[in-house]
Amino acid sequence: MSSILILGAMSDVAQALAHEYAKNGYNIQLAARQKERLEPLQKDLEIRYNIKAVAVEFDALNFTSHFDFYKNLPYEPNMVACVFGYLGDTAKGLTNWKEAEQILHINYTGAVSILNVIASNMMERKHGTIIGISSVAGERGRQSNFLYGSAKAGFTAYLSGLRNKCFHSGVHVLTVKPGFIKTSMTQGMPLNPKLTATPQKIAKDIFKAAAKKKNVLFSLWMWKYIMRIITSIPEGMFKKMKM
Ligand SMILES: NC(=O)c1ccc[n+]([C@@H]2O[C@H](COP(=O)([O-])OP(=O)(O)OC[C@H]3O[C@@H](n4cnc5c(N)ncnc54)[C@H](OP(=O)(O)O)[C@@H]3O)[C@@H](O)[C@H]2O)c1
Repeated sequence: MSSILILGAMSDVAQALAHEYAKNGYNIQLAARQKERLEPLQKDLEIRYNIKAVAVEFDALNFTSHFDFYKNLPYEPNMVACVFGYLGDTAKGLTNWKEAEQILHINYTGAVSILNVIASNMMERKHGTIIGISSVAGERGRQSNFLYGSAKAGFTAYLSGLRNKCFHSGVHVLTVKPGFIKTSMTQGMPLNPKLTATPQKIAKDIFKAAAKKKNVLFSLWMWKYIMRIITSIPEGMFKKMKM
């Protein structure tokens, strides 16, 4: 039976993804900090969709635990979705290294640390799909979120290289670049509703893109064209803008 491991499973997007995959008959391994918080979701998935769901402890920042975390999973998954992330406070991060470090380590180092372990195992097995949730914020650095954006840019480049490496062993890598999503990460932000997706919409788009073995997914789709415009603005002009 097909199965997916979801890293950062308490996130709004991760929970929608768990429902989407469970609805389609996948067994689910949910991984998050303080795994007892996953119990209601785990039970709901099992009852609603008649699949097996388990909850496991995972901290993206505990790099040295990642090898054992993966080795000790109840079973090796066919798919993994790396969903955890941290927007943080860029203004604070400029003068407070602890905040900057959190942003960089959760969004980049932590993701690389765990996906190195998983990709190596999948390449050995010559089978598997890795889904990495990056962001359109990684397409161009902006004053409002350049710490988060630079970590996501690094993650996007990592996923691109990993896709190239894994292709030769039959393992697929999907990079997801969401625009705005209505989740706890963006709570209180004035988001344009026409450019903002629900976690459920993102989850459906990811499910379809992974099934079709797409390489890169922008969701909502118009963000692909918005980012094309944003990245084409000359630097001399861009630096004067307030974005
Ligand atoms: N929301 C948006 O507009 C948007 C746009 C583009 C990309 N994204 C990306 O989409 C993904 C999902 O975000 P979301 O909007 O669903 O955000 P969210 O609800 O705030 O979820 C973020 C999750 O990351 C987890 N996390 C943070 N640090 C962790 C760590 N050290 N170890 C394990 N888990 C950790 C948090 O777990 P705890 O519950 O333990 O804190 C939380 O569940 C993220 O990668 C985000 O960067 C979001």
